[in-house]
Amino acid sequence: LPTPKISPSMLSSDFANLASEAKFMEDCGADWLHMDIMLFYSENSKVKRFNILPRESKFLKLVRLLKAFLDCHLMVTNPADYVMPFAKAGASSFTFHAEVTKDSWPELIKSIKSSGMQAGVAIKPGTPIEDIFPLVEGEDSVDMVLVMTVEPGFGGQSFMPDMMPKVKELRRRYPNLDIQVDGGLAPSTIDQAAAAGANVIVAGSAVFGAKDPAGVIKILRNSIER
Ligand code: DX5
Ligand code: ZN
Repeated sequence: LPTPKISPSMLSSDFANLASEAKFMEDCGADWLHMDIMLFYSENSKVKRFNILPRESKFLKLVRLLKAFLDCHLMVTNPADYVMPFAKAGASSFTFHAEVTKDSWPELIKSIKSSGMQAGVAIKPGTPIEDIFPLVEGEDSVDMVLVMTVEPGFGGQSFMPDMMPKVKELRRRYPNLDIQVDGGLAPSTIDQAAAAGANVIVAGSAVFGAKDPAGVIKILRNSIER
């Protein structure tokens, strides 16, 4: 299995103290920091809700000072517009959603990688893995696949165990691929994800809500390493 990486979701952190929260997570043993960027458009293309926008890339720069690996998960409809701003802001990896940009996948991956970031592709619970095989196998291929284990939108939702067959099949096909799971990961659900073959673990509420975040990170890591 590729190296385990524990990536606490900063969505559950105190945004007003993002830099110190990031530092705290590093001290707790986090490998990566998961940054959720959500931008949902309503019918009239008005912004419904958002977290971190490229305009707020100062935040990313701030966290960059800590030398953390910034694992950026872009739940946006137009990821191509974000590649340069995120590269400039110091993002380490750029994960886009497969559901949004079918036509321009190769170009998108190429631009992410040529701007110095790792490329990842995410799939929502309703999206079959077959859709993304070409992105893993193609010439300009992704470094990571993110299998969502909740519907994107919020932290603190329940883990969907029925996503594990997707992880299992991806692991069977691609022994060296980074496979990330995101949503509802906690000490109570990690063993299922580990058994299926996930090695990159996002956890928001389970880490930030814990009395002993370092202890939770250790439990998550041990389960993958076992
Ligand atoms: C959901 C986000 C997740 C979320 C996970 O849209 O992609 O990263 O923060 O939070 P937990 O770990 O609390 O389910
Ligand atoms: Zn996420």
